[in-house]
Amino acid sequence: MFQTTAELRSAFLKYFESNGHQVVDSSSLVPHNDPTLLFTNAGMNQFKETFLGMEKRSYNRATTSQRCVRAGGKHNDLDNVGYTARHHTFFEMLGNFSFGDYFKEDAIEFAWNFLTQTLKLPKEKLCVTIYETDDEAFEIWNKQIGVAAENIIRIGDNKGAPYASDNFWQMGDTGPCGPCTEIFYDHGEHIWGGRPGTPEEDGDRFIEIWNIVFMQYNRQADGEMLPLPKPSVDTGMGIERIAAIMQGVHSNYEIDIFQKLIAKTAEIIGVKDLQNKSLRVIADHIRSCAFLIADGVMPSNEGRGYVLRRIIRRAVRHGNKLGATDSFFYKLVPTLIEVMGDAAKELVSMQAIVEKSLKAEEEQFARTLERGLQILDGALNELKSDTLDGETVFKLYDTYGFPVDLTADVCRERDINVDEAGFEAAMAEQRSRAQAAGNFGADYNAGLVIEDDTEFCGYTDLVGQGAVTGIYVDGNAVEVLSAGQSGIIVLDNTPFYAESGGQVGDKGLLTADGIEFKVSDTQKFGSATGHQGEVSQGEIKLGQQLNAQVDKKLRHRTELNHSVTHLLHAALRQVLGSHVTQKGSLVEPERLRFDFSHFEGVKAEELKTIEDLVNTQIRRNHQLTTAEMDIEEAKEKGAMALFGEKYDDKVRVVSMGDFSIELCGGTHVGRTGDIGLFKITSEGGIAAGIRRIEAVTGAAAMEHVAEQKAQLDQAAALLKSDSASVVAKLQAQLDKVKSLEKELSQLKDKLAAAASADLAGDAVEINGIKVLVKKLEGADPKSLRGLQDELKQKLKSAIIVLGIPGDNKVNLIAGVSNDLTKQIKAGELVSMVAQQVGGKGGGRPDMAQAGGSQPENLDAALASVIPWITDKL
Ligand code: ALA
Repeated sequence: MFQTTAELRSAFLKYFESNGHQVVDSSSLVPHNDPTLLFTNAGMNQFKETFLGMEKRSYNRATTSQRCVRAGGKHNDLDNVGYTARHHTFFEMLGNFSFGDYFKEDAIEFAWNFLTQTLKLPKEKLCVTIYETDDEAFEIWNKQIGVAAENIIRIGDNKGAPYASDNFWQMGDTGPCGPCTEIFYDHGEHIWGGRPGTPEEDGDRFIEIWNIVFMQYNRQADGEMLPLPKPSVDTGMGIERIAAIMQGVHSNYEIDIFQKLIAKTAEIIGVKDLQNKSLRVIADHIRSCAFLIADGVMPSNEGRGYVLRRIIRRAVRHGNKLGATDSFFYKLVPTLIEVMGDAAKELVSMQAIVEKSLKAEEEQFARTLERGLQILDGALNELKSDTLDGETVFKLYDTYGFPVDLTADVCRERDINVDEAGFEAAMAEQRSRAQAAGNFGADYNAGLVIEDDTEFCGYTDLVGQGAVTGIYVDGNAVEVLSAGQSGIIVLDNTPFYAESGGQVGDKGLLTADGIEFKVSDTQKFGSATGHQGEVSQGEIKLGQQLNAQVDKKLRHRTELNHSVTHLLHAALRQVLGSHVTQKGSLVEPERLRFDFSHFEGVKAEELKTIEDLVNTQIRRNHQLTTAEMDIEEAKEKGAMALFGEKYDDKVRVVSMGDFSIELCGGTHVGRTGDIGLFKITSEGGIAAGIRRIEAVTGAAAMEHVAEQKAQLDQAAALLKSDSASVVAKLQAQLDKVKSLEKELSQLKDKLAAAASADLAGDAVEINGIKVLVKKLEGADPKSLRGLQDELKQKLKSAIIVLGIPGDNKVNLIAGVSNDLTKQIKAGELVSMVAQQVGGKGGGRPDMAQAGGSQPENLDAALASVIPWITDKL
């Protein structure tokens, strides 16, 4: 039977595949191009635009096993994780989707049959909820499926808490939503709890396993519900919950995946009691952390990276509670890969980087933790009440980097409350800054929506013709654009490339008789291409035919840079390893920028190898080929797809010999030889684990080389040499400087010795002891010690005090020969003097140094030395 989590995953997908659903891969945890969402939190996220009718797919039924993270955003489960049976930061959601195809009847039937026939769950263990007014769903459950009326519970929409699963589901403040029906499983009388809708519903006996959402509306930021183009279906079943049922256990943490992770954690840290809640926290957190990093999130202090950092730190702290003394968290990654089976594909290729990032974060945090815990401990020991004030919590966080949830955890263990309101107040500013940076919560519908379709003829042609289908000024549709006005022109056909995949939008001209529009940028709006710019002559009206003419030179230079990024990507992977993935790119006419994952700086010799490899491929002069194919076929060919990027089912594959095969919609050179020359201009880190290479090609590369040569020539001229022997000449100069410096320092020593001979003559005798007190104007403070040593040698038995006045400062030294340190201590002596010049000091009995800030008092201070000594002797 289907028992292990892996078996359940594949049984689910197969079941829906055999019912006409396309099996689609899980999307990245970082939502593609959706500013309303922190992390992917439901199976439907990747289909959001399909539900909204903005994106067409070749299928209208799909099924997925989607990795999800609910932490840090609206669905914030972090604080509960580990302490309840079913809260997780990371989980997999099994789902089936209908995009305007089947609706309530089939959705309910599919779910019921999968549970009762495929998985053979006893019907009497199941009950369902429906939205309070959804009589249609009631009829289906009751008449068609045969669920008794008393087992169909009507639940209202909880207006005050829009995220509560009160049978109206929505992915966020805006976007697709609708009423839902949920299927619950009864874990049995031995567990406390009641059916949904009863006062005991929060107990653990009746557990929601499947949510079927009848997607019908698109919620707007102002709360208005617009109908979707077609009624649709979105469902979700947490794989961990159904696995718990199938494996005959109650808590999700008892299922196979978690048992192995818990056992491994216990083994690494050396814990005997496998029931310890901290083990659960760690087993949960390694899943979200590893997958988030694999999906390109890196620990940082804002946005997604900050949430990740908090989760890692919470795990590390629970490890410390269990007695871990060393980094342990990253060691769980191999076990995680093993237990996640098919769902670990992405993790496998990123394993090295995930482990390194986790380890680095653990080590950094260990240092923070040690200090923070000490301070917190002190604060708690001094606490007079049972509440820790918000200010202390904030200070720990702000000044010491000690995470707030850890403070809360420690307090919870000691039964102490945290003044959350006080803390929130102090935090408000910080948070608004982080939010502004991440811009989460923006209104997805606010952007300009253009419904037209534009044909793109610019792969082959740089001139074309198109009719104006839309004109926009400041986000509003207009009918005419006159000379001097700026706006966006949409054509039904254009050779202009709209910015995408890192390649910048084309510039150029749109013209007709007496009309000229200067295009300064080209952008995509849905399936429409918008030419942004200004009318320089005439007037443009809707329906007008225009000649479109791309700026050839700029486009051509951009293409050199685009094609070379593919070669660079492949070369990086060959030289540095297959963990390298593209993290972003910018392809402009002037240069290119390529960001990629790699854990350390690229060494100079590696950079050279990479550059050479790319240039070799340029010289091979590969013919560039492009082909349209199914995404599956492209993947089989080994085409590099960008992580987190969303692809249609039909993709465009760009190949350069066998060296580079990549999915790409951009425009490219005809043969790699067109690129001419590739020169890397810089390499550096831009975030933890992310490097950036900047480079130039073609004429710009030649210019770059010429510039470097000019600099070399200039250096040669300065050295009165030629460029061939400049290095040898420079080396000779450096050697000379070194020997001169040595000579100079010897001379200085000699001068100091001579000066000390002079100085020695100034010593006076007190009770038969030589005492030298001297102000040295303009002397080098660094010479004080050496001078003091010399003077001691010369004077034998002596007490010496020297002072150098400077700008608002004084340097002092006192020396006492060993035979005299019983009576006079250099430390005390220098301290006595220093106090009079606004300073402090001290040191050994035979030599001590000090500083001060009042040179104007130096004379008086030095004058006090002799009486002081006389007094002591
Ligand atoms: N999208 C629905 C949920 O997350 C199925 O519960």
